Formats: sequence, C-alpha cells, structure tokens
Amino acid sequence: MENKTPVDYQKAQAVIDSYQLPDFGKATIREVVAISTQLEQETGVEFIHMEMGVPGLKAAQVGVDAEIKALQDGVASIYPNINGLPELKQEASRFIKAFINLDINPEGCVPVTGSMQGTYASFLTAGQCTPGKDTILFIDPGFPVQKQQITVMGYQYDSFDVYEFRGEKLRAELERHLQTGRIAAVIYSNPNNPAWFCLTEDELKILAELAEKYDVIIIEDLAYFAMDFRKDLGKPFQPPYQASVGHYTDNYILQISGSKAFSYAGQRIGITAISNKLYHRSYPGLTARYGGGTFGTTYIHRVLYALSSGTSHSAQYALAAMFKAASDGKFDFVSIIKEYGRRAAKLKKIFTENGFKIVYDHDLDQPIADGFYFTIGYPGMTGSELMKELIFYGISAISLSTTGSHQEGLRACTSFIKDHQYKLLEERLKLFAKNHKI
Ligand SMILES: Cc1ncc(COP(=O)(O)O)c(C=O)c1O
Repeated sequence: MENKTPVDYQKAQAVIDSYQLPDFGKATIREVVAISTQLEQETGVEFIHMEMGVPGLKAAQVGVDAEIKALQDGVASIYPNINGLPELKQEASRFIKAFINLDINPEGCVPVTGSMQGTYASFLTAGQCTPGKDTILFIDPGFPVQKQQITVMGYQYDSFDVYEFRGEKLRAELERHLQTGRIAAVIYSNPNNPAWFCLTEDELKILAELAEKYDVIIIEDLAYFAMDFRKDLGKPFQPPYQASVGHYTDNYILQISGSKAFSYAGQRIGITAISNKLYHRSYPGLTARYGGGTFGTTYIHRVLYALSSGTSHSAQYALAAMFKAASDGKFDFVSIIKEYGRRAAKLKKIFTENGFKIVYDHDLDQPIADGFYFTIGYPGMTGSELMKELIFYGISAISLSTTGSHQEGLRACTSFIKDHQYKLLEERLKLFAKNHKI
C-alpha cells in the first residue's frame, strides 16, 4: 500500500476476519454496522456511516404530542380496535386523496405495525387467494427483509433486476414471469430502496395493464412517500401527486409508512391501504381456508388478528394527527425530509469527482432524484471488493448484491451524515482515488 489508509490496515483486516464471513459482499447491514462500530472503538477513527436506512431526523412533534396525550388519556390499558382507530382510518383516506389523488374508503385503510407488517400480511393474504398462485414477484433491487418474509412464511419468490428493463422493455420481462401463472402479487418500492429510481407513469401503466391481464395484486411500497424531490409533492389537494399504480388499476395495495416521511420509525406505525374493489373481492382460496370473507376482511380479521391483534393504540393517534396536520396544510413534512435530498446532492458530487459512478443514475432520460439512498460503483471493482476496501477508509455502506441487483456497487444512505463529514469524505475519497488509479 503506497499511502496509509485512514483506518489501520492490519487492524481492520483482523476485525473483518474475526467475523468469518465467506463473502464480505454478502454481509448484512447489522454485520457491517458491527464491524464499523468495533473498528471505530478500537482505532478511534471516525466512520462515515452510510449503511443503515434509519431516519436521521427528529420525530414529527405533532405525532409525539398526540401520542403523549393519548397515553395520558388512558389508551394504554385498552386493546385497540382491530380495524383501526376510526379517526386514523378517516385521516388516512383523506391523506391519500390529498397527496396521491386516489379514493380509498376509510374501511380499506388499515393500521399496521410498520410497513414490515403491512407487506408480511399482504404477501400472506395474496398468496392464499388462488390455489397455485403462491409466488411473489419482486421488481428488484429491493428491500432484502421482504424476501426474508417470504422465506419465513414458506412461500416462493421470483425476481428480476429492472436495471435492464426500464420503459417499454418492462412489459416483456414482466410477462415472462406472469405467464407462469404462479404469481400472486408483484412488489416494488417507489422511490426505490436501494437505488432511488422511480418507475415512470408509463411503466406504472404497463404494470397496471398486466396486473389486470394476469389477475395479480400489485403491492406498492411507498416507504419513501413523497420523496421524489424532483417534483413538489408536498402541497395537499394540489398536483403534482405521488405517482401510483392505483391511478391505472384497482388491483392494488399501498403501504404507507410513518417511518421515513414522519421520522416515526421507533413507534412501528404505518397504513396498508387496500383498493375499494380489492377490499370487497372474495377469492376461492380465502373462502376454502377461512369459510368466507373478502380480501379486506380476511386481511384484518384473520391475518392481522393472528399476527399482532392490531397496532399500538397511542401510535395510531400519532399517525392520525400527522396525517391530519399534513392534509390541513399545517405540517409541511416534505420540506423537512428534503434534507436527505440536499445531503445526497453533496455526497454524490464528492463521490463522482473522485472517480465513482452512480450505478442506477436515470429514470429513462431523466436523472434520478437526490434522496434517502443512492448507489455507487468504482471502475474495475466488484461491489464486494469496494465495500471491503472502503472500510479501510472509514466509510461503510452495503453491497448491492444483497438487494437482488445484478450490478456491481454499493448502496449509500444519507440519513446519518453529519455536517462536518463532507470534508472528511472528500479527503478520504481523494486518498482512495490516489491509491486506486483507474
Ligand atoms: C422499501 C422499504 N419498505 C419498507 C420498509 C419498512 O418500513 P417500516 O418501518 O414502516 O416497517 C423500509 C425500511 O427501511 C423500506 O426501505
């Protein structure tokens, strides 16, 4: 090594070796956090943490206040209504109208303990609707824990990396998977974790058309609600609106999380919003298994009831208050979370000035937005090699290979970046570039 690395090379190697990972590129987020934190403690060198997708902002005060009040009013002792708090259902429906311009009845807006539970219950129910349709199709790259959910419930999944199939090419690739007849539901996140692309309106139309042709349910994961900062999505009841497949089909379920939009991850609260038509539809598989019920009633009274018997009572008050304040135009949540976009713009500039490439860089002809995540690659290095090498420079991120991506690179998250770290990153990447001449 011509130039010393910021983190002592031998020490870093010893710590990495002690984890006995056969392929460092397959390390989970928790393992990367453990390694980087241990190295930080042992060497005293500060790490620039970009591995964790945890909100880095304060929880929305309007939510905290409403939750405290609810607790003081005594809700903690009472089981919450399994359908959800009526005020929350009402406000969720109104929020969806205000920011997506979709009409979903309060009945179909169901509180869940975060989108994690929302997707679990959605996969489970969708996979029981029609005998023979037990496979969930992932439009990758994606959120690895959702595949873990499929494994836990003993279902099958299928997937493809959408990198090569943007625009009209999406149609043939989707059909290739849907034609098997085994797909119950399709899942994707918009904006995408990890790559931050957004499917375009034309791509959403293709998805909607095929959802109807093959009778599959589209699960649209809006964990990063309103975070396509290229558009001003923060004005209630005014266009532009959050893009959604729901504008083009009735076969859909939305997952709206309180975690990132309202920095409310700790309280585990979100909404599953089931389209009016899907809510009332009955399926042979559900009738055979449960003796009756529709998709919506099965989702709530059978599946959610069995999983957690509802969602924390006080957190429902919090989410109702945040939805209400946002729809009333009194709480501009988008302006607050735009901070992630500002950070991404600065970080991407530093990376690209030092020889890195943004891996997923376009939505067809439009550059992707700056937001919560971005992806980076370095010429001549696999994602696994890059991830390991950056550890020696005190920079931690996760490999794209854990997300179903076939591209070589890393996911970097902006949420933990501190103001003084831009300069630090620049110094370290300059040294990295010097040591790894392209
Ligand atoms: C794409 C995606 N979906 C779902 C979640 C989980 O959301 P929640 O905290 O509401 O369970 C995350 C969290 O990182 C995510 O990135």
